[in-house]
Amino acid sequence: MKFKALFLGLGVAAVVSANAFAQAPIVIKFSHVVANDTPKGKAADRFKALAEKATKGRVKVEVYPNSTLYKDKEELEALQLGAVQMLAPSLAKFGPLGVKEFEIFDLPYIFPTKEVLYRVTEGPIGKDLFKKLESKGITGLAYWDNGFKVMSANKPLRTPADFKGLRMRIQSSKVLDVQMRALGANPQVMAFSEVYQALQTGIVDGTENPPSNLYTQKMHEVQKHVTVSNHGYLGYAVIVNKKFWDGLPADIRSALEGAMKESTRYANAIAQQENDSAMEAVKKSGKTEIYVLNDKDRAEWRKALLPVQKDMEGRIGKDLIGAVNKEAAGLGIK
Ligand code: LMR
Repeated sequence: MKFKALFLGLGVAAVVSANAFAQAPIVIKFSHVVANDTPKGKAADRFKALAEKATKGRVKVEVYPNSTLYKDKEELEALQLGAVQMLAPSLAKFGPLGVKEFEIFDLPYIFPTKEVLYRVTEGPIGKDLFKKLESKGITGLAYWDNGFKVMSANKPLRTPADFKGLRMRIQSSKVLDVQMRALGANPQVMAFSEVYQALQTGIVDGTENPPSNLYTQKMHEVQKHVTVSNHGYLGYAVIVNKKFWDGLPADIRSALEGAMKESTRYANAIAQQENDSAMEAVKKSGKTEIYVLNDKDRAEWRKALLPVQKDMEGRIGKDLIGAVNKEAAGLGIK
């Protein structure tokens, strides 16, 4: 009798553990380097909610914001190793991976309007760029918007001449290096998580960011001057480890694709508002002087920076730059 009870008990335990095993959620570690209350931070949280709902809990998304798990460079390495499954790095950070065409997004004035940007990210150009990630073991899922960048430093930045000799922090992009040199500044590549302290201690004199990043990292507290220049763009590629993504059950992958579509719509819908509110908050803080370029200034900045597009043809591809400029022309925008 005892043997039978034991046998029965073991059988039940095996079923329970098999069930428990079968129910173990698929974990997606989603690492990023910005604060939660930014377009990317909010979109990552939105994706988590949508993905867990759409898969009825079969997928668990763990979001690690603000470089709490990995910093800039490390996060891409971690993704390729499969230590994390999802990232949304700035489009300015793919050069070191060997996909320098992504630096098209960094070219000064390449997107006269957001409409031109969306024609690129939602059209064949964006798709072709994602194809270039496949050989790196990465699958591109979506492009998330943040916005146009402002410049900041501890001196007024009104004309290109004001940048002479300044040490300006940039992301790891050759285009941004050439951009800063075109202004007479001295570019310094640095992880996003180190920028506040580098500005506070004077390791660098200034930087460029969309207002949402400047504000949420409190850079306005250590930068006496902000110039609303909108000279360049900053957006993101939401990417996954290819092996992980291809290995998902088809129904799970399709549910995640739906969640990604919805969170992309959300990300792009809030980006402008988030940046406008951040700029308002910087103004209200009274901690920094804000200067908005006038038409004369803008003409001077364009004269100094537009040649970067030509200078970078060899690195990014003349045809690719031409194709993006054609999108603008297609919208009747000069
Ligand atoms: C930066 O490093 O300045 C940005 O990439 C940060 C971010 O991801 O928005």
